[in-house]
Amino acid sequence: MKILGIAAGRKNGNSEILMKEALLAAEELGAETSWFNLHDAKIIPCTGCEVCTMRVAMKHESPDCVHKGKDDMDRIMAELSEADGLVVSVPSFCMQPQGIWRIFTDRWLPYEWALQKAAGLVEKAPDRVAGLITCGGSTQNWMTMTLASLNVSMFMQSIKVVDMMMATGVARPGHVVLKDNYIEQAKKLGQNVTNSCTIDYDKVEYLGEDQGWCPVCHHNLMKKGAPHWDGLTFKYECAMCGAGGDFRADESGDVKFVLADNGLEHCRLFTEGRENHGAEIGMIQKTFFENIGEAKAKMPRYENYKPRKIL
Ligand SMILES: Cc1cc2nc3c(=O)[nH]c(=O)nc-3n(C[C@H](O)[C@H](O)[C@H](O)COP(=O)(O)O)c2cc1C
Repeated sequence: MKILGIAAGRKNGNSEILMKEALLAAEELGAETSWFNLHDAKIIPCTGCEVCTMRVAMKHESPDCVHKGKDDMDRIMAELSEADGLVVSVPSFCMQPQGIWRIFTDRWLPYEWALQKAAGLVEKAPDRVAGLITCGGSTQNWMTMTLASLNVSMFMQSIKVVDMMMATGVARPGHVVLKDNYIEQAKKLGQNVTNSCTIDYDKVEYLGEDQGWCPVCHHNLMKKGAPHWDGLTFKYECAMCGAGGDFRADESGDVKFVLADNGLEHCRLFTEGRENHGAEIGMIQKTFFENIGEAKAKMPRYENYKPRKIL
């Protein structure tokens, strides 16, 4: 059983410490562990060229990135696909994961299993689970989008999240060693990740503390519904996983989010929900290629406009 830890944040900082506590717990249960800090990796940012997706869609070729072989991505992603479990530990910066995580995960598109499958390279994604950790100097009010954002990266790689934790009020590097409750929570997270690797993948469930409104992904970000590309509209939906439903009060006045009967139709945690989005992207791209002549005629207005450039 292989558990890979990925940390961002400072050397010997709070993220590394919590990740290491989780790895120590995994080792106690017999796991083989390894880790790296994103600050030690060479990762060229995604240029947004979409060559990876166009290679698959237009030529049925492997979705190789234009940066392939120029940085550490292939090596890291090979380790990631061989791991049974991940411990991801990233500090909250401006309520979101520290930017280096986003630079890393924007590069995941060519490694996405749905894309690899569409290119005929794989049958299915490997069975993998993850525990997500964030830390921050403030209360959870200033960390609101971090775990949800980390979770987005996980479903993009078809990885099931089994535990999540937020260490609040830890500002200076090493601050978290003063907080036994968080050290214990990280240990438990390491155990949950490791134990989840030993059971039938279909039976893997979320084992962590309830973080929020959504009964499907346990996150705390709800939005008012808006029509999807195929017309489906929910009254409210989870901004992270896309589960749809409504808020209802029970007899005691407690308000809960209740899933609609078809509330999982666009849920991104499941393959069907993600495939639905794949169909949406295909449809949107088609509307461009069908009108490419009109687009070309309108482009010179912007191509020929040359206001003062500062870089
Ligand atoms: C640019 C920047 C933005 C930050 N924004 C937040 C924030 O929005 N919420 C929060 O709780 N902490 C914030 N912090 C504090 C860090 O999350 C905190 O110091 C954390 O412990 C750093 O993790 P590390 O020790 O692993 O590097 C911010 C720190 C920096 C440098």
